[in-house]
Amino acid sequence: MSDKSHLIIFDTTLRDGEQSPGASMTRDEKVRIARALERLKVDVIEAGFPAASPGDAEAVKAVADNVRDSIVCGLARALDQDIDCAGQALSGAAAPRIHTFIATSPIHMEKKLRMTPDQVVEQAVRAVKRARRYTDDVEFSPEDAGRSELDFLCRVLEAVIAAGARTVNIPDTVGYNIPDQFGALIAALRERVPNADQAVFSVHCHNDLGLAVANSLAAVRQGARQVECTINGLGERAGNSALEEIVMAVRTRQDLFDCDTRLDTTQIVPCSRLVSSITGFAIQPNKAVVGANAFAHESGIHQDGVLKHRETYEIMRAEDVGWTQNRMVLGKHSGRNAFRARLQELGIRFAAEDELNAAFARFKDLADKKHEIFDEDLQALVTDTNLDA
Ligand code: KIV
Ligand code: ZN
Repeated sequence: MSDKSHLIIFDTTLRDGEQSPGASMTRDEKVRIARALERLKVDVIEAGFPAASPGDAEAVKAVADNVRDSIVCGLARALDQDIDCAGQALSGAAAPRIHTFIATSPIHMEKKLRMTPDQVVEQAVRAVKRARRYTDDVEFSPEDAGRSELDFLCRVLEAVIAAGARTVNIPDTVGYNIPDQFGALIAALRERVPNADQAVFSVHCHNDLGLAVANSLAAVRQGARQVECTINGLGERAGNSALEEIVMAVRTRQDLFDCDTRLDTTQIVPCSRLVSSITGFAIQPNKAVVGANAFAHESGIHQDGVLKHRETYEIMRAEDVGWTQNRMVLGKHSGRNAFRARLQELGIRFAAEDELNAAFARFKDLADKKHEIFDEDLQALVTDTNLDA
């Protein structure tokens, strides 16, 4: 079994992220992102769904041929032709994984698959065995596990682990669960599935209620050791768990987790920027970790605190996630200390305190009219102050 202190990061930006309407990527774009994910040191890169289209099969093949340090995974329905297609696309990978899935919730089995529970178990087992012809590294997902019946889920998981699945992934496909409930589900599965210790438990949460990250973290606290996530939380509908939030929550709150990831977190911001520029999906300014304001301080009280000791208002270091530094934004809420500090950085010093006070008064007037005061504004303002004197 894997090292229990290692939280495996399975990035699905190139598969579930790409399923976000408007986010489809070309083969070369996928390879560029995959290389960035490799530099970030993610453990598993889900490169696509080879049976979805010949173009995606080609893209998965290109990623498999170009990535050496991460496991490269392809998704396949629990169908022979999908599994064969994934197996072929991954043939050049240094470490290939096939991820196969079938739905297990009553609504999906009855209305979508039109299959009985017995048929679903049989097909899941068959799929895992077929995938094992291509690689020892097989992952199985009971789709819509978040709305499946516990006894049936236990039955399916026991059967697929016995058939050779090394990772069992529990998806909250429609983002329906809340953290206590989802954590309890993982705890119950780990306790009740008789061969649970022969597989890594993974989670895959969607963000329909804005709970994907919280649900994933609750699951990690109950023993899940793989989290499936995407850069910037890209993904179907409201998206998937955001990789940057999962990784930094676990790293920052090591007092609460008995595991950690092996990622090079300084690559988070470059990776986030790359995904945003390729997909054209802008990053909201207040997005945790990677938003432009994530390490920016505007209010005087906060700026004064940070200038005295960064940890007064910062729980992570901007540099640790790939920003060059934190950012003091000068605006109407800013105080004299931040104003003086920025002027000093610009090489501007006043001989007398009342000159600084006059400049600060002009700055406040300007700040009432403008969202953010830039260095050029400060230069102009100081020149004006000197002219007035
Ligand atoms: O959300 C989901 O259920 C999926 C599966 C294919 C794992 O993306
Ligand atoms: Zn999904």
